[in-house]
Amino acid sequence: MPLFTWTEDLSVGIAEFDAHHRRLVELINELHEAGSGGLPRVDLGRVLLSLSHYIIYHFLAEEEVMHRWQYPEAESHRREHMLLTEKTLGFVAAFHRGDENITKDLLVFLVSWLQNHIRTVDKKYQAFLTAKGVH
Ligand SMILES: [Fe+2]
Ligand SMILES: [Fe+2]
Repeated sequence: MPLFTWTEDLSVGIAEFDAHHRRLVELINELHEAGSGGLPRVDLGRVLLSLSHYIIYHFLAEEEVMHRWQYPEAESHRREHMLLTEKTLGFVAAFHRGDENITKDLLVFLVSWLQNHIRTVDKKYQAFLTAKGVH
């Protein structure tokens, strides 16, 4: 059973970013399955790497669009991305230092921030970017 299910109320009205968010939900579910299925450590490490790469890829994509359209809240949004990235990479570093329980803590953190960030911070750019013709 997936840990996290995508629902329409998470849509930010921009197809590319909705697709990214859906992929993030998938990767979080993969990490959940990898962690609870007792996968070898090396495979768990691989899932963690894909997830952290995708998070950074998605953040840069949003930042690029916000910058291109001179979204007034781009800077505070970018700072929030930085904090989330630092926190995620901190969990990954702890995993590589040998902390076995990190996956559970990371999942709890990711599910709550992804939902909060999409609902509060990402949704804020919807009206502005849609008015610029981004969809
Ligand atoms: Fe964002
Ligand atoms: Fe986002």
